[in-house]
Amino acid sequence: MNYLLPLAAILMPHTSAFVADDTAAAAAATVTSTGTIEVPTTRPSGAFSVPANFVSFGFGAAWLPEYTNDFGENLINSVAQRMDERPVIRIGGTVADRITFDPSQPKPTNCVSKDGCPDSSRAHFILGPSYFDLFSRFPNARFSFQAPLGENVNKTNVLAYVQRAYKSIGANRVDSIALGNEVGHYEPNGSAYVADAKEAQSAIVEAVSLGNSTIFEVMNTASGQRSKVPEEFTVKDVFQAGLEKDKKIKYVAEHYYQIENHKENSGLQAEIMNHTAITSKFTNFAKSVSYLRKIAPKIQYILSETGSALQGNHEFQSWFGACLWSVDFQLYAMSIGVSRVSGTQRPVARHSLWIPQPNLKEAGPQVRAPYYAQPFVADFVGKTVSGERGVVNIELGSPFLSAYAMFEGRNLARIAVLNLREWSPSSRNGTGRDAIKVSLHGLGKAKDVQVGRLHAAAGTDAGGWDANSKNITWQGQQWSYGIDKGKGHGTAKTGTVNATDGVAEVTIPNSEAVIVYLGKF
Ligand SMILES: *[C@@H]1O[C@H](CO)[C@@H](O)[C@H](O)[C@H]1NC(C)=O
Ligand SMILES: *[C@@H]1O[C@H](CO)[C@@H](O)[C@H](O)[C@H]1NC(C)=O
Ligand SMILES: *[C@@H]1O[C@H](CO)[C@@H](O)[C@H](O)[C@H]1NC(C)=O
Ligand SMILES: *[C@@H]1O[C@H](CO)[C@@H](O)[C@H](O)[C@H]1NC(C)=O
Ligand SMILES: *[C@@H]1O[C@H](CO)[C@@H](O)[C@H](O)[C@H]1NC(C)=O
Ligand SMILES: *[C@@H]1O[C@H](CO)[C@@H](O)[C@H](O)[C@H]1NC(C)=O
Ligand SMILES: *[C@@H]1O[C@H](CO)[C@@H](O)[C@H](O)[C@H]1NC(C)=O
Repeated sequence: MNYLLPLAAILMPHTSAFVADDTAAAAAATVTSTGTIEVPTTRPSGAFSVPANFVSFGFGAAWLPEYTNDFGENLINSVAQRMDERPVIRIGGTVADRITFDPSQPKPTNCVSKDGCPDSSRAHFILGPSYFDLFSRFPNARFSFQAPLGENVNKTNVLAYVQRAYKSIGANRVDSIALGNEVGHYEPNGSAYVADAKEAQSAIVEAVSLGNSTIFEVMNTASGQRSKVPEEFTVKDVFQAGLEKDKKIKYVAEHYYQIENHKENSGLQAEIMNHTAITSKFTNFAKSVSYLRKIAPKIQYILSETGSALQGNHEFQSWFGACLWSVDFQLYAMSIGVSRVSGTQRPVARHSLWIPQPNLKEAGPQVRAPYYAQPFVADFVGKTVSGERGVVNIELGSPFLSAYAMFEGRNLARIAVLNLREWSPSSRNGTGRDAIKVSLHGLGKAKDVQVGRLHAAAGTDAGGWDANSKNITWQGQQWSYGIDKGKGHGTAKTGTVNATDGVAEVTIPNSEAVIVYLGKF
C-alpha cells in the first residue's frame, strides 16, 4: 500500500498487531505501511489565529420550529461545552429571502407555495409573531439571522423580520445580520447586489439603532455560483462593484459543497474522502480569503453553508465517510484563514448533522454521522487555551493522509491526523482493515501524548446507532436520539502513547481520524 509521504516517507510493508493506544474496538486493524510526519515544534509565522467559535451550526430559517426542541439543544450543548465561546447558529438560506410576515397568523410558519411545501428550498413561508418566540431556545448559542432581500428589496418586509428577530434574540446573542442569501441567483450583477444590500442595511441600522456596529454579513455566495459566473460574484468583484469595506461589515460569507449538481457517483474515495479534492476545490476560496485580508483585514471570511454533497446516497452524505470529509474540510478551511464553518441543515436534507423530527423523507429523529465532526473539530480548536490559537496544515501531498497542527501561543498543543483510505466490510474483500503507523516528529520534550480517536468499527458503512446501528465514537462517546435525546453517553477516553526524543508512533486504521494531545487533556 503506497502512502505518498514526501517527508521522509518510508514505505515498509509489514504486519504487526494493532495495540498500543487504542480502545479495544480498533484492535482488528493491521499495520501495512508507515510514514513520518514532521510537525513544526514552534508556531510558524503564518499560523491562522482561528476564533474560538469556529465550529457552528445552521438551520434553514423557515424550519426553525422543527429544530427548537430538547434534542437539538442537547446536541448543540455537547459541542458548546467544548468551546471557549458560544457557537453561532445561522438562521437563513434560500427560503429566508422569500419569507413574508403576517401579524395576525397564530402559527409560527405557514407554507403557501403551490409546489415545494413544506420541504423544498423553493417553498414560500409566511411567518407569524410566535415564530420569533422560538429564538429563546439554544441559550448556549448565539444567532446569525438573515434580512430577507429577494429580487426587490421590500423594506417593510425586511424590518418585519429583522426588528422582531433582533428583539427576541437580544442584542448580546445576536452575532450578525446577513444581507440576503446566494444573491447571484436573483441579482443581475455585483452592483445591483451592492445597491440592494446598502438599502436594506441603512433601513436596518436606523430601525434597530445600530449606529456603526460591526454586525453585517454580506454575500453568502452559492457554492456552484463560483463556477457558473465567477466574474460577477467573487469577493473581489463585489467589493469592486462598490461594497463598502466600512466597519459595519463583520463577515463575508460563501457556501461550500464538495460536490454540487452531481449525478453519477464516481466513488466515495475519489470525490469525498480525498484530501487532494478538498485542497483543489479550495483554490478559488483561498483567493477570496487572501483578497479580503489585503483590502479589509478586520472583516472575517466564513463558510456559512456547507456539506459533502447535495445529492447522492447516504454513504456520500450521512455516513462515516461524509463525517471524515467534514473533519478534513473544516481543518483545511481553518488552516487557510476561514474564521467559521456552519454545519448546515434543513429537516429533509440528507447531509444534515441530525434529523430533528419523525415522519420526514429522511428517517428521524436521528443523529447522523456528520455530527461527530463537530465535537472533534471543537476539541481540536480547544478550550481554555494558553495563548493565541494558531493552526497550520501539514501538507503531505497525499489524497489519503492529512495532518494539522494547533498551537497555543508559541507552543504545539494538538495534532490532528486523518487516514482517509476508504474501508468498510461491504466495500472490500474479507474483513481485514489495514492501518498506517505514523511517526510524529517534533514533539519537543513531551514524555507521552494522549490519542483521541474518531472511530467506527464498520468504517464507511457506519451511520451511527440511530441510523443503522453501526456505531461511531469520538473518544469513546456517542450521540443518539434513541438512547438519551442527544445528550451524549459513554466515558470520554484517550489512549497514552510514549514519546522519546520528540517522537511518538501512532497507528491509524483506514477510515479513522485522531487528535494527538500534548500536555494537558
Ligand atoms: C412588503 O412586505 C409586507 C410585509 O411582509 C407585505 O405586507 C407587502 O405586501 C409587501 N409589499 C410588496 C410590494 O410585496
Ligand atoms: C447591473 O444590472 C443592472 C440591472 O439589470 C443594470 O442596470 C446595470 O447596468 C448593471 N451593471 C453592470 C455594471 O453591469
Ligand atoms: C459612524 O462613523 C462615522 C465615521 O467614523 C462617524 O462620522 C459617525 O458619527 C458614526 N456614527 C455613529 C452613530 O456612531
Ligand atoms: C482525488 O482527487 C483528485 C482531484 O479531484 C483526483 O485527481 C484524484 O484522482 C483523486 N484521488 C483518488 C484516490 O481518487
Ligand atoms: C476482491 O477485490 C478485487 C479488487 O477490488 C476484485 O477484483 C475482486 O473481484 C474481489 N473479490 C471478491 C471475492 O470479492
Ligand atoms: C452501539 O451503541 C449502542 C448505544 O450506545 C450500544 O447499546 C451498543 O452496545 C453498541 N454496540 C456495539 C457493538 O458497541
Ligand atoms: C511508557 O513509558 C512508561 C514510563 O517510562 C513505561 O512504564 C511504559 O512501559 C511505556 N510504555 C510502552 C508501551 O512502551
